[in-house]
Amino acid sequence: MPTSKIGGIGSYVPENKVTNNDLKQFMDTSDEWIQERTGIKERRYAHRTNETTTTMAVEAAKIAIERAGITAQEIDFIIFATLSPDYYFPGCGVLVQRALQMKEIGALDIRNQCSGFVYALSVADQFIKTGMYKNILVIGSEKHSFGLDFSTRGRNVSVIFGDGAGAVVLQATEKAGQGILSTHLHSDGQSAELLAMYNPGTHANHWVTNPVASYNEAPAGDMFMSKEMIDKAENFPFMDGPAVFKKAIVKFPEVIQEALTKNGLATSDIDLLIPHQANLRISQFVQQKLGLRDDQVFNNIQHYGNTTAASIPIALCQAWEEGKVKEGDLVCLAAFGSGFTWGSALLRW
Ligand code: ACO
Repeated sequence: MPTSKIGGIGSYVPENKVTNNDLKQFMDTSDEWIQERTGIKERRYAHRTNETTTTMAVEAAKIAIERAGITAQEIDFIIFATLSPDYYFPGCGVLVQRALQMKEIGALDIRNQCSGFVYALSVADQFIKTGMYKNILVIGSEKHSFGLDFSTRGRNVSVIFGDGAGAVVLQATEKAGQGILSTHLHSDGQSAELLAMYNPGTHANHWVTNPVASYNEAPAGDMFMSKEMIDKAENFPFMDGPAVFKKAIVKFPEVIQEALTKNGLATSDIDLLIPHQANLRISQFVQQKLGLRDDQVFNNIQHYGNTTAASIPIALCQAWEEGKVKEGDLVCLAAFGSGFTWGSALLRW
């Protein structure tokens, strides 16, 4: 049975650097507050019109495909993880298929927020193990800057997020012990509303309870967003920061330990842990709880902020480019985020 390995990796971040001090022109915040609570010094924001979640993904994908030593026409399937798609529908996967002039292959979009890339990798891994596909393009990309509340009201969320994309080509390999060893996925919807963007959605559109009445009762032009929704900031992400922190610091170590136990390995065997770059304080807490040395954990949130589904492939790509991931290394990817959803992937590079 084939297993799957990362054959090529690429990333792309926009040129536009936005420092903590830059944010002070829009909201009441400070460099000290942001660095102390999140570790973030700067993040990148995409060009308002010329760069989208898809265009950034395409740039990252081109690099990953080239490094895998194949052409875009040899990709068998696309899996695209994002919470900030170009369009409400269709998803970004088909836009990548079009931009890279790929064959009429399948394209699947995944909506698992910060865990999106680990979920996507896990799905791709299953397709490869069954022998259905040989080369799968797995992407995480986000353009958060288009939809954050840059007023003081939204400062606890908006200072955290940045834009960027990362991509890998997952390939079949027959080499025993190489590639993805296992993946582990979880969810608990009990706290779904603690880290969420409530609208546009169908939940609050109460008039749709009666489909006949709905079209008569719905005020014109008010199908998706009412003034009340906008006044309550329901078109912006909401986060109960302390609640997310408390859950994340339990679930991250748990799901990393689950992957190690499954493979008969220990934390001392990990060469590099790449946690989803949620918040530097969360990563440090996880490191401490697992007793990992500094050189066993990779963080780059300081320079890119939290790029949600893109954070793991961007960090993995940087670590690989810096020579911190070498052949034979045991690499652990772990994520936690909105849903709540969380997951891990253990791989032998
Ligand atoms: N600048 C200045 N002051 C701020 C800012 C800001 N950007 N944001 C909030 N504050 C203020 C608040 O208004 C509040 O003021 P008050 O005491 O006068 O009411 C004070 O700082 C404390 O606010 P809290 O929201 O309680 O801040 P907290 O200390 O919890 O820190 C943080 C917020 C950093 C988000 C923290 O809760 C945290 O680390 N949470 C983990 C969640 C996380 O990192 N999520 C990342 C995205 S989700 C994911 O990827 C899983």
